[in-house]
Amino acid sequence: MTLKDKKIIVGITGSIAAYKSALLVRALVKEGAEVQVIMTQAAKDFISPLTLSTLSGKKVLSEIFEEDEWANHVMLGRWADIMVIAPLSCNTLAKMAGGLCDNLLLSVYLSAVCPVVVAPAMDEDMWKHPGTKKNLEKLLSWGNLVIPVGYGELASGLTGEGRMAEPESIVEFIAGSLSKSGPLKGKKALVTAGPTYEHLDPVRFIGNHSSGKMGVAVARELANRGTEVHLVLGPVSQHFDLNGLQVKRVQSAEEMFIACKEVFAGMDITVMAAAVADYAPAEYSQNKIKKNDDEMVVNLSKTPDILKSLGQMKTPAQVLVGFALETDNEEANAMKKLEAKNADMIVLNSLKDEKAGFGKDTNKVTVFDRKGGKKAFDTKSKEAVAKDIIDCIIGYTNA
Ligand code: PMT
Repeated sequence: MTLKDKKIIVGITGSIAAYKSALLVRALVKEGAEVQVIMTQAAKDFISPLTLSTLSGKKVLSEIFEEDEWANHVMLGRWADIMVIAPLSCNTLAKMAGGLCDNLLLSVYLSAVCPVVVAPAMDEDMWKHPGTKKNLEKLLSWGNLVIPVGYGELASGLTGEGRMAEPESIVEFIAGSLSKSGPLKGKKALVTAGPTYEHLDPVRFIGNHSSGKMGVAVARELANRGTEVHLVLGPVSQHFDLNGLQVKRVQSAEEMFIACKEVFAGMDITVMAAAVADYAPAEYSQNKIKKNDDEMVVNLSKTPDILKSLGQMKTPAQVLVGFALETDNEEANAMKKLEAKNADMIVLNSLKDEKAGFGKDTNKVTVFDRKGGKKAFDTKSKEAVAKDIIDCIIGYTNA
């Protein structure tokens, strides 16, 4: 998820860590966000409003009433996609937990209908005080998000816990929180990844070079955006971090088909990134086949076409995304697959592209959809490609 065009309120309170807020505002603006800074009076002792208005390109707000002007805290609270208070001082934390409303920042906090993220900053003894813990627990119980403090040198000269998180980590946290509160929150998705192995005997199989990287990247990105993900994973040798995913490991196309059918009806989104064998040995030998003749003929029979079958079961509310791995006539073949499999989208990748396809860390895709949409992307990491594919799915469902 990018922060482009996101509306972000940055609240700054009185703490020495306020100097880092300038870097935070700068980083958010660089990401394309629209930033409105709100400072408490105490914050102004630590950093100048001029620095922050210059960096944000907007007048810094501080007072509920300024001469004859009234800062509309309710509308500010509704304007923002997210509100981040960094640094959050002990004093403002206590006021938030107590529901107090004696400055603009607190009134906007109470009016905010968007996610609220806080990055506390204080000395270790204050951080560890049971009052502080209780106040933070209150904020958490209201659904506010707390960015953990760091360990290191503190304003008092002591070393310990209580440092505000670094601006880059806060930006990352904000992006993650916005993703999770986005349109995929609470949705369910099925993703297939990796190859299938079609066994001939106990030692041999027909397989392919899929590493599972592309499908796992899609599964992870969906989970990052708040989706419940069911990953059906073929036999991959790489170790992936699959935390937070519901994983079903399979070997053959037939097993992958059964696993997909089991959950498909309950899914909002299905993305089939696995490289499924189209044919499997017609017979399986229980014992290792001996080398006798100069030639050996293996009869193959068709495996189930999982994408096609799911396409036939699909309801209008479900989005079905297939991949097409091509070596020639790429676009025509991808369009044929879109039609023949009744998919909503096909993600084309070509083995002609050096940095695309099996095993690579990068991919280069073009996404076609049933409404006539076509989006070609540059070569990117598979993680970035997964983001593009998911943004296409969101765009398709909103179109
Ligand atoms: O795993 P990596 O190393 O990261 O590589 C990623 C990838 C190249 C495997 C991936 O990007 C990709 O292209 N996956 C689909 C590969 C493939 O089998 O393409 P296809 O054009 O043969 O199949 C078209 C679609 O039908 C695919 O969605 C496939 O999952 C599905 N299919 C194919 C055969 C079959 N029997 N059942 C299916 O459901």
